[in-house]
Amino acid sequence: MTGAPVDGTLAVELRNVDKAFYGVKANEDVDFQLRRGEVHALLGENGAGKSTLCSILAGLYRADAGEMEVEGVPTTFKSPKDALAAGIGMVYQHFRLVPNLTVAENLALGHPKLGLRVDQKQLHAEAVELGESYGLPVDPAARVWQLSVGEQQRVEILKLLYREVKVLILDEPTAVLTPQEGQQLFKTMRQMAGEGRSVIFVSHKLHEVKQVSDRVTVLRGGKTVGGVDTADAEPRDLARMMVGRDLELPTREQQESLGEVVLTVNNLNVQSDRGLDAVNGASFEIRAGEVVGIAGVSGNGQRELAYGLVGLRTPTSGQVILDGEDVTSADVLTHVKKGFAYVPQSRLGMGLAPGLTTEDNLALKAFRDPPYSRGRRLVASAFKDRGSDLIDRYDIRGVQPGLPIRLLSGGNLQKALIAREVELVPKVLIARSPTRGLDVGATEAVRNLVLAERARGTGVLLISEDLDELLALSDRLLVLYEGEIVGRMAAEEATAERLGLLMAGQKETA
Ligand SMILES: Nc1ncnc2c1ncn2[C@@H]1O[C@H](COP(=O)(O)OP(=O)(O)OP(=O)(O)O)[C@@H](O)[C@H]1O
Ligand SMILES: [Mg+2]
Repeated sequence: MTGAPVDGTLAVELRNVDKAFYGVKANEDVDFQLRRGEVHALLGENGAGKSTLCSILAGLYRADAGEMEVEGVPTTFKSPKDALAAGIGMVYQHFRLVPNLTVAENLALGHPKLGLRVDQKQLHAEAVELGESYGLPVDPAARVWQLSVGEQQRVEILKLLYREVKVLILDEPTAVLTPQEGQQLFKTMRQMAGEGRSVIFVSHKLHEVKQVSDRVTVLRGGKTVGGVDTADAEPRDLARMMVGRDLELPTREQQESLGEVVLTVNNLNVQSDRGLDAVNGASFEIRAGEVVGIAGVSGNGQRELAYGLVGLRTPTSGQVILDGEDVTSADVLTHVKKGFAYVPQSRLGMGLAPGLTTEDNLALKAFRDPPYSRGRRLVASAFKDRGSDLIDRYDIRGVQPGLPIRLLSGGNLQKALIAREVELVPKVLIARSPTRGLDVGATEAVRNLVLAERARGTGVLLISEDLDELLALSDRLLVLYEGEIVGRMAAEEATAERLGLLMAGQKETA
């Protein structure tokens, strides 16, 4: 998509910007020019400094050094409020809406021109109209907690449009969307650019950048590598600019023969936190050396399915049979012992212990057995040895001995988590969105780890919202919609289009 009326005048310019956190240079001597009427993509590996740069523009962080000009006028922001007043707003990676308020109330919240008494009727009408005119339909009366992630994102964007921002910053907006929602968002972005606004678009997905942006700025290690017109840059070139080397994302190779069935799931029902059936009659099998992908928009039962399988939640009915043994009601520890490994979605919440060192985290699940414990004592040297061995073999970078694991970048956290899990030599590996938010280099590494498990004969259940990933790694695909498996297909029959429609609840006619 090109042909926006880019008039060339600068909306925002940053020069020689530095920003450090506790001595870590997140941005160093960064130059950035944003033109009016353009979609400008910001690319870089995990930790390259993209969110930091965006947060400086949005007034959340203050630069340690450097200058900023907004429409040619030297400016400093003390808070996001200042930035909004200057017409710059940001949709963060983690949303900031108030869940208990309605969509309309969230739009009005903190609006400088609205007092305490707001005409609800008018507000609702405005919300609907604004939503429709930008292809972001919302129900103004719905409470935010009731909305899907995609809908919440629409509200975040509308909130900024309602404040008539001239610069809209979207930090990895497509990470939480279906392909169709993503395409709609791209239309909205182009529309905004067409009106002379500017959009900053952060993404790790090169084909998205290629599709929607006019120009690209690449950051590496906190510094600007350069800016290019999107039309002049092939995805391959952009990847090279980001990581400083050539890379190719791994995809699975055709299977020669499949092994025995290692996991059988029969008519499984698992409840949500609120006691509703979140997984409804799910049945499927996984064979040794097979990757079965579960596609679906987040919130359609993925979490409960994973919990039900690994013993974090006891299914209300149905069966989970691991290698011939019924483990439906067994506890987590038994699941681990019998051969389940689990890579959860939130790496620092449930996967890793944020405050422990990397070495200790790597030993966490093995610690009950020798050589890590003798009698009731833990053996520190054994922890250390295992740690440094795994750090080496799995190429976990940035480890500082003695410091907590939470300081690692997203990609390295994920490598640590997978290393720990696959070292248990599982029969079945359940991985939820293992490369979500990871850059191309880290994604390559994690995908290779998953494919290595497949080659070793592990049955893999890959639960993901990332269709590119599902298509690249899965032998078979299932689609989960409102707790039910609504589609099944071999990888060869699957396309993003077909999966996307099923994910949106559209039934296939035979
Ligand atoms: N609030 C903070 N406190 C301490 N360190 C931070 C903070 N925010 C960012 N950093 C560090 O600054 C560097 C740049 O981080 P930033 O979040 O800007 O990267 P990013 O390019 O957005 O990465 P990602 O693709 O993972 O979102 C990283 O090393 C990060 O650990
Ligand atoms: Mg970021």
